[in-house]
Amino acid sequence: MKILVTGGVGYIGSHTCCELLANNYEVVIIDNLSNSSIDVVAKIEKITGKKVTFYEGDVCKKEILSKIFKQEKIDAVIHFAGYKAVGESVEKPLMYYRNNIDSTLSLLEVMKEYNCKKIVFSSSATVYGNPETLPITEDFPLHTTNPYGTTKLMIEQILADLYKADNNWSIAILRYFNPIGAHKSGIIGENPNGIPNNLMPYIVKVATKELKELNIFGNDYNTKDGTGIRDYIHVIDLAQGHIKAIEKITKEKGIDTYNLGTGNGYSVLDLVNTFKMVNHVDIPYKIVERRKGDIAICYASTKKAEKLLNWTAKLTLEDMCRDSYNYAIKNRKDK
Ligand code: NAD
Ligand code: UD1
Repeated sequence: MKILVTGGVGYIGSHTCCELLANNYEVVIIDNLSNSSIDVVAKIEKITGKKVTFYEGDVCKKEILSKIFKQEKIDAVIHFAGYKAVGESVEKPLMYYRNNIDSTLSLLEVMKEYNCKKIVFSSSATVYGNPETLPITEDFPLHTTNPYGTTKLMIEQILADLYKADNNWSIAILRYFNPIGAHKSGIIGENPNGIPNNLMPYIVKVATKELKELNIFGNDYNTKDGTGIRDYIHVIDLAQGHIKAIEKITKEKGIDTYNLGTGNGYSVLDLVNTFKMVNHVDIPYKIVERRKGDIAICYASTKKAEKLLNWTAKLTLEDMCRDSYNYAIKNRKDK
């Protein structure tokens, strides 16, 4: 089976490509490299010992998509391409709506034209807003607080309407919780430009002494140690969830939504302490004001993915901390 992976050079996409290749899928990537580097294509090939077909291009542009669908016999698509920085989306909403919505519409139109009606879409737990109870199940009310989140919600709606109009589609919407970690080899991982917004990339830069100390955004939440609680999931577990979703949409028509998380909530201090312990490094930190828009606690119910996708996350917080640091260290040595 041949899978088109949009945004396949990015963080989650590259790990998913490795898992696809390891499971004997053929992989075609389209990426415009707006948030990734071309070297990653060779790295995916190095890890797997297999070839990928790479097209550099913008998923918003139907011409290149048509070219790909004409040249390759694509069986299904995993759609990662999009912008993902919450803060930036508040500053530049039009850029986010244009890229995330346009790319999806162009992709779906071309898929329809070539009668390829199987798609896995990257959504986010951000669509749950501030949940009233926990754990979060897929039927919770949806609510967004920033343009990035709203693009995810809008795309979920577009997919639902598409399926309503044509029951020949097979659609899996995956709502990721907090992906962290890296490939065990240390060859690929998360490498954000500039000062990271998210917790793990920030901790890594403190560990490698690129940043002086971590700012912990509030220790007065109603949690065990006062810091925010999230459901961190290893990117390799997440990648394997995509294989299960592909298996599901290949077998059955329909549309369904699945949380991809571990079901465990860890606090900021849990992550800091685990990171210190497994990597034998110091992570100096100070407590600062809460970050605007942050919620106290967020973790998934994973029952649905377990039952319908036959998938559960297996890797631990220790694995996540070790692999994130290993990637950072290896990457620094390479430079
Ligand atoms: P990423 O930025 O590392 O990867 C996205 C890739 O898409 C990049 O390689 C980028 O160059 C490419 N891209 C962006 N717009 C494009 C376009 N118009 N045409 C072609 N390529 C384009 O991000 P990621 O962390 O791997 O996230 C992948 C997907 O998962 C995104 O849709 C993101 O919103 C979603 N998601 C991510 C997280 C997370 O914490 N990383 C959480 C929830 C959901
Ligand atoms: C972020 C995104 C969310 C996305 C999710 C998963 C924001 C506002 N939200 O949420 O849309 O779905 O990632 O990728 O960016 N923290 C610190 N110091 C830091 C960074 C974070 O204390 O320097 C804390 C936060 O307050 C939070 C936890 O660490 O309690 C996790 O933060 P982060 O990694 O940014 O993820 P989310 O807030 O869950």
